[in-house]
This record gives sequence, structure tokens and C-alpha cells, in this order.
Amino acid sequence: MVANSSPRIIMSLDLGTTSTRVALYDSTGTTVTIVAREHQQYFPHPGWVEHDASEIWANIRELAALAMARAGLTVADIASIGITNQRETIVAWDANTSRPVQRAIVWQDARTDATVEQLIANGQNAAVQSATGLHLSAYFSAPKMAWMLQHHEAAARLATNGQLRFGTIDSWIIWNLTGGAVHATDITNASRTSLMDIRTGQWDYNLGEVFGIDPNILRDALPEIHPSVYHYGHVTGSLAIGGLPITGVLGDQQAASFGQTIFAAGEAKNTYGTGCFLLYNTGHEPVFSSSGLLTTVAYQLPGEAPVYALEGSVAQAGSVVQWLRDQLGIIESSDDIERLANSVTDHGGVYFVPAFSGLLAPWWRSDASGTIIGLTNYATAGHIARATLDATAYQTLDVIQAVEADTGRPLQRLNVDGGMTVNAQLMQFQADILDVIVQRNADVETTARGAAYAAGLGIGIWEDTAQLRNLWQAGGIWHPQIEPDKRDRLIAGWRAAIEHAIGWPV
Ligand code: G3P
Repeated sequence: MVANSSPRIIMSLDLGTTSTRVALYDSTGTTVTIVAREHQQYFPHPGWVEHDASEIWANIRELAALAMARAGLTVADIASIGITNQRETIVAWDANTSRPVQRAIVWQDARTDATVEQLIANGQNAAVQSATGLHLSAYFSAPKMAWMLQHHEAAARLATNGQLRFGTIDSWIIWNLTGGAVHATDITNASRTSLMDIRTGQWDYNLGEVFGIDPNILRDALPEIHPSVYHYGHVTGSLAIGGLPITGVLGDQQAASFGQTIFAAGEAKNTYGTGCFLLYNTGHEPVFSSSGLLTTVAYQLPGEAPVYALEGSVAQAGSVVQWLRDQLGIIESSDDIERLANSVTDHGGVYFVPAFSGLLAPWWRSDASGTIIGLTNYATAGHIARATLDATAYQTLDVIQAVEADTGRPLQRLNVDGGMTVNAQLMQFQADILDVIVQRNADVETTARGAAYAAGLGIGIWEDTAQLRNLWQAGGIWHPQIEPDKRDRLIAGWRAAIEHAIGWPV
């Protein structure tokens, strides 16, 4: 047991796709404070998406100090740190200088589409899926690493000297927090690289050959894999949070699932963020999908076998709202989407498939492109806004139907979180389209919360997952209300829209 005088606050570092957040929680699960900052998105060519990993590291340093100042706390009040992060995004750096070799290649980046399509055409998908649980896709880290080695002289040179380090954003931050002393990742992040054996939870260096990477390079460059709840090391003394232990790490979708206390087989959560990601807990056995889902690690507790999940990854959700704001200019701020969508009574026949970078689950079609159908003179910006939100609900339906096909079990209830879930109209539509009960956590920021829970387990603030379950609080519940005929008609329209989006030459 932890003595009363021990620090009881957990700091969560949430390194997302568009922003970085630092959140503080107390031992009752109450949020003490959250501070956030957006980082720059670089789009150097069509389909390319990059981040400056040094900017993300600088943001974390400042936000950690800011969070403590806002809450009137010092480092002595903090028990430990949890980390959660956008997954798959890959950073390459020089072990001697800790400088990135180039900008990080983000999970959404499609530059390796053609190479990956060629691997699929060569019949490599089945072997990769049975080893890693993942489809061959430009989405995952391995093809991005191969691209860096092939296109950056510095990366190739450092790799030959054994001086190159590869890591997802968690590893990059752990490396920096520990002053280069620790090169580590957690099993959930490793499970998104296409290089981890999903059954053993260890690297399969030989998989590098599929992508044209010398396995010896990977032996030097990849981090060590640990459970999600684990003592990763201590923050180096020169930082404002110097001396704190890092005791929990999870990829952001797995963290959201942990924060939603999805600990039992058959439970599922859907997070509506930049993209939309559904995780369905399958227990200690990995289930291999024949319906377009991924097999992934949900979490691993110390001394226990990993808990697995089926995942449906949808690339575009909240990012489409940003597109309406920044590219189309039909809303001024992201919050305006709700008002605009509610200015019409329904979608007016308009469907929007936001396949801006192809379609991920369950379709896996890199040749799909964004498509709006059903336009008439009657259509307004309101209908496009409504169709944008509806698309998130329909894409979730596609994923859940795949889960039901793979498991043979109808879903009873869906836990939801993420920024878009504050929109009650969207949540009602989601329940209607799925024909299942949708329930929202009182805290929509379950990603940061999940990393705090993992770190809190690691440092002994909470003893087990049963205690964490008791912290779950409902923030809204929606029951299906729609007429079955109407639901069927709407879904038929969506299916037609998907047909239009796939195979359209851009
Ligand atoms: O797989 C990508 C995912 O981890 C990104 O999540 O929350 O930044 O949209 P988010």
C-alpha cells in the first residue's frame, strides 16, 4: 500500500495527431487540469503527412510545466507519468545527437501506397497478416521506415554504423525524457508496426525483408518491447518533471479503451478523434479477421499474457470537419458543424464518403477517393455538414458489421468517447444506424485518462482493473429509435456511395 503522504497525482502525456495534451488526475479519477497545444501539420506533396518530432518534444516540455503551474502543483505532488500517442507514425533519429533524421512520417501518409500495393499483388498479404495481425498497408510503420532508409542518405549511413534509432512517438518521447538512457516501446504500439509477432509480442526482425529492410538494421534501431504497465525509467533531472517514473504506455486507441475500462472480452469502444477507431476486446486469444479488421494488442499487464482486440480503423472523422473549415470554408470553427448540421432536418439525400486517403477498415482500398453523391438544387451547406457527421456513423456501422461477422456475436452496447461525441444528434444517429445502445463516458478525453490509469496501476495508486472499473461514469446514453425500414433505406444509400468512392481515378 502507498502511504498517505506519497504523491497521488498522475500526469498523462497524450501525443495525438493534431495536438499534444498534458492532463493531471487524482486518485479518485478526477481531472485536475488539461492543457493542450496544436502542432504543425506538413503536407509537402499530395498524400504526404509529416510532423516535426522536435516540435512535439518541445511542446511536451512546456505543457508539463504549464499543467503543474495551472494546478498549483510541483513535481513532488506527482506520483508518475503515463504516455499515450498517435500510433504508427515513425521517427528516425541519431543515437549520438538525439536529432531526428527527417520529419516524422505520419500514420495518414500515403507515399508508400504503390510499394505496398505491389507487395499485395505479389501475394504477401496473407503471410504478413498471420504473423502480425495487420493487413499490408501504407498505414503501418514498416513501409515508412523502409522509405526513410531508401531516400535519406543520413538514415542509411547511421543505420550502417548502428547509430540509427527508429521509434513510434512514445519511444521518441521516452528517449528524450530519459536523456537517451531508455529506448523502449509498449506492446500496443509495437503491434502497429507490421514488425511484431502478434503471438509472442516480440519483434520478428525477418519481417523487415518483406519491406526491403535489412533485419540487422532493425536489431540495432528498434526499441525494446515491454508491457503497457511497466517501469520504463525515470525522467532525467534537468527537466521540470525530472526524477518522475514513467509507469504506463499505450497507443492512443488502446489508451482510450483502457480509460473506458474495456477489460472483458465482448466489450467495445469507439473513439471519434482525427479518425475513428473501434476496439473490440477478444480476451487472451488473438482473433484473425476475415472481414477486414486488424488483430491488435489491447493492453498487457505485468506478468500477464497480452489482452487482444479486433480493431476497425477509419482514417477520416474529425479531420473532415477541419476540412470543411479550412478547405471548403463553410464553417468558421469546428464547433460550428453541429449548428450547421442541425439547420436541416435530415441529410436531404446527400451522402459523403470522406475517403481522402483511401479507405481503411473494413475495405482497405487505397484507390478510393472522397465522394459526395445525391446533390440536387435543394442541397445546402447544412446537408453537407449533416452528411459529414453521418459518414462517421456509417463507417462505424461497416466496422461493427465486420466485428459481428468475425465473432458471430451481435454487439450489445458501444462505449464512445472523443471530441465528436459531445454532439447528441450524432450519437442518436449512431445508435439508430447501429441498432445498439450507445453510451458515452462522462469524460470524453478517455485517451489521456487511459494512460493515467496504466501509470497509476504501475505505481500502485490503483491495485487492479476492478478498481478502475469503479471509476467509470456515464455521461449520456442513446437508445435506437429509428423505424427499421428507414434505417435499411439509409444504409442502402451509404452502400451505393461507397461503391462510387472505390476505384475512382484521381
Ligand atoms: O492509428 C492512428 C491513431 O492512433 C491516431 O489517433 O486520436 O490522433 O486520431 P488520433
